This record gives sequence, C-alpha cells and structure tokens, in this order.
Amino acid sequence: MNDVLKQLADFGIVPVVKIDDARNAIPLAQALINGGLPVAEITFRTDAAEEAIKQITTKIPDILIGAGTVLTAEQAERATNAGAKFVVSPGFSSSIAKFCNKNKIPFTPGITTPTEIQMALEYELKVLKFFPASVFGGMKAMKAMSAPFPMVKFIPTGGVNIDNLIDYIASPKVHAVGGSWMVKADLIKEGEFDTITSLTREAINVML
Ligand code: 3PG
Repeated sequence: MNDVLKQLADFGIVPVVKIDDARNAIPLAQALINGGLPVAEITFRTDAAEEAIKQITTKIPDILIGAGTVLTAEQAERATNAGAKFVVSPGFSSSIAKFCNKNKIPFTPGITTPTEIQMALEYELKVLKFFPASVFGGMKAMKAMSAPFPMVKFIPTGGVNIDNLIDYIASPKVHAVGGSWMVKADLIKEGEFDTITSLTREAINVML
C-alpha cells in the first residue's frame, strides 16, 4: 500500500476542514499538531482552500495535508500543485481517478453502493471514503458491502463524531475515519485554536 495511505491508517482520524480565510491555515495546522493529529483534509468548498494547502505544506512539513471535496481533475491538479499529498472526493470520478493514477497520488473517492465500489476497483482504488456514512447505513451498510469486497478498506465520513468514533474504528474494515467535529468552520473562523487542540486530543484519547 502507498505510504500516504498507510499514514492515514496510522493516524486513524482525518480531520475534514472547511477554511474561509487562508490566514488561519498555519494556526489551524499547529492546533492539530498540538492535539496529536498531524493530518488534515482541506476541502475545496472555499476559495481559501488552495492557498491554505500551499501555506501549510510549505511552512509546516510535519503535517500530512490532503485536498477534499475535489470535484474535477483540474481541481486535483491545483490541489497537488499546492502541495496536497492525497485527494478526496465526495463521489466517484473517473477523470480524477485517471489524473491521480497517472501522477501516483492516492485518491479516496466517496462511495455508498457496490456499483461505485466496482467503479473504483476498475482504477485499482481500494481505500474508499464511505460518505455520508451515517445517512447511508453506517456500520451495518459498511459491513454488508465488505462481504463481496474483502480487498476494500473504508474511510467512513459524514456523521462521525466523538460518540460513535469507536464503533467505526473498531472494525477491521475501517482504514480510518473522517470528520469535521474537532475542526468546525466556526471554531477556525473565531480563532478557537485551543478548543481545536483539546477536541483533537479528546478524539485521540477515545481512539486509543
Ligand atoms: C466531508 O466532506 O467529509 C464531511 O463534510 C464531513 O462530514 P461531517 O461534517 O459530518 O464530519
């Protein structure tokens, strides 16, 4: 397995970030590092995403940064040029899969059905984001989908929080979980970086 994907499994949790102002990027990265979780998926839901990725990856090499909510191959290219080490999308995209495979960038597309899993497998993608996990059947659905696809590992995301984290993490089919609960956009906007650190630390403690 690719090294970056291995690192995601080692971290166990991938904070999903929506950042409105790139000036908050460095303090955010520092807050996650201080909380013991040097990893983030920075979503292309805001115009600040690309610049935030660039700032963190050039100034703080000790944190693993990926790009999320990537909807086109062009965005994947911008994200990786900015320094993103992995690409996440909410659904499956063959154009992003082609771009990432060609450039040897780990890509974890969102899936909710066996059909989408098969589409991802056609591109040799075996670590898949199960999104939005809580709406599409949570652990029960994930376990059922695992049966015909023993080669697939999931990153359940969407509705994962401090209360159900352990149910997901305990499954051998779970590669890692994703979630925004410790890095809510409002916390970032309000400069509540100490809160981000303590929520992150709490998540790590629950996981361990
Ligand atoms: C994502 O894009 O991965 C989700 O918005 C994260 O879901 P959550 O906000 O329910 O954690």
